[in-house]
Amino acid sequence: MIPGESTVVSRLRAAGCVFAEDEAALLIGAAGSAGELADLVARRVGGEPLEQLLGWVEFCGLRIAVEPGVFVPRRRTELLVREARGGRVVVDLCCGSGAVGAALGADVELYAVDIEPAAVRCARRNLPHAHVYEGDLFAPLPGDLRGRVDVLVANVPYVPTAEIPLLPPEARLHEPRRALDGGADGLDVARRVAGGALDWLAPGGRVLVETSTAQAPIAVDVMARNGLTPAVTTDDELGATVVSGRAPGR
Ligand SMILES: C[S@@+](CC[C@H](N)C(=O)[O-])C[C@H]1O[C@@H](n2cnc3c(N)ncnc32)[C@H](O)[C@@H]1O
Repeated sequence: MIPGESTVVSRLRAAGCVFAEDEAALLIGAAGSAGELADLVARRVGGEPLEQLLGWVEFCGLRIAVEPGVFVPRRRTELLVREARGGRVVVDLCCGSGAVGAALGADVELYAVDIEPAAVRCARRNLPHAHVYEGDLFAPLPGDLRGRVDVLVANVPYVPTAEIPLLPPEARLHEPRRALDGGADGLDVARRVAGGALDWLAPGGRVLVETSTAQAPIAVDVMARNGLTPAVTTDDELGATVVSGRAPGR
C-alpha cells in the first residue's frame, strides 16, 4: 500500500524539512509505486536534495533536469540570466545542468562547458540546441569562436574554501566539491574566467559572473586588471550579485 500523504509529511517534518507538505506532494507525484515512494522518502530523510530526487528543478519558469551529483540551480542565479540577455553568440562556462543557457533561449548560438561528466550529461539533456563540451573552462571551445563571443557567462564556484564546512549538508554532501569551492577568497575560478575573457569576447562583448556581496569589489578589481570595464548589479529580493566586465569596443 502507498503510504498516505500525512505519513510522508510526518516523516519529512521529523527529519527537519521545512516545506514538508509541498515536498510530500512532489515526492508522491514522482513515485511510480509504493516501493519507489519509500525509497524517495528514505533518501530525502537521509539528506539528498529534493531536486536531485525528483530529477528536475524549476528555474526561470523552465523545468530543468538535474541528476544526483549535479549542482542544483539556485533561484538567485536568475539575476545572472537577466543580465546575460541580449547576446547572439553566448558561452556558458561552468554550465552545470545547463540551466543558465536554457533560460537564455534556443535562438542564441550557445556553447556550454563543464568539467564534471555528470553535469555535461545533464546539460546535453537540457540544451539540445547547444554545443556542450566536457573540460576545463575555455580549453574545449572551438578556436574559431575567438573574438566572436557577445556574452560569456559563468556561474563559477565561489564559496571560499574555509566556508565549505558551514554549507548545509544538502550542498556539502550531495553537490560536487568542484561545483562549490572557489579557493581561498572564492574567486580563483572567476579570476581564470576574467583572465581568459578578452581572447574570446567580440569587441564590446561582456563577461558576467555571480559573486557574494563581499566578493563584488574584489571581482570588480579583477575585471579592471584584465582590461574589462566592470559593473555590478544586485537584486535584494533574490539576494544576488552579478559582476560584469565589458571588452573595449570597436
Ligand atoms: C556553482 S555551479 C554552477 C552550475 C550552473 N551554471 C548553475 O548555475 O546551475 C559551478 C559549476 O562549475 C563547474 N566547474 C568547476 N570548475 C570548472 C572548470 N575549471 N571548468 C569547467 N567547469 C567547472 C562545476 O562542475 C559546476 O557544475
